[in-house]
Amino acid sequence: MGAKERTLSIIKPDATRRDLTGKINAKFEDAGLHIVAQKRLHLTEEQAGKFYEVHKERPFFKDLVDFMISGPVVVQVLEGEDAVALNRKVMGATNPANADPGTIRKEYAESIEANSVHGSDSLDNAKKEIAFFFSETEIVG
Ligand code: CMP
Repeated sequence: MGAKERTLSIIKPDATRRDLTGKINAKFEDAGLHIVAQKRLHLTEEQAGKFYEVHKERPFFKDLVDFMISGPVVVQVLEGEDAVALNRKVMGATNPANADPGTIRKEYAESIEANSVHGSDSLDNAKKEIAFFFSETEIVG
């Protein structure tokens, strides 16, 4: 049995625009990921740039920031056994062309950029990313 973990998830503007929040949340809940915090935000350019700071030297950085501020996002904390890895499995590969059948990105992503969801890639980053958006009192497990 794996350890109980929390991970940060973002439902991206391509998905909120198509009203896919409920369908994506159903995928998380069906997989055993509990949504223990959730809020809908319109990120500022500064927030999006800071959140994706690790990618700032990558060629896709500016486009990524522009995309992430192009509409509302839903930021959420998912909790469950091995939540970081489990969420990555439910999301599927970053590029939807490589995503397994049944995953969120295979079913809903439009492109490698407009790929419907973000999920933390490690427990360390999950802690930092959760703290970026939520205070402890906003997370109710
Ligand atoms: P995400 O998991 O949020 O992390 C970084 C994001 O950059 C990624 O999902 C994609 O939305 C976006 N992106 C755009 N182009 C690329 C690329 N070539 N490789 C990886 N990520 C990309």
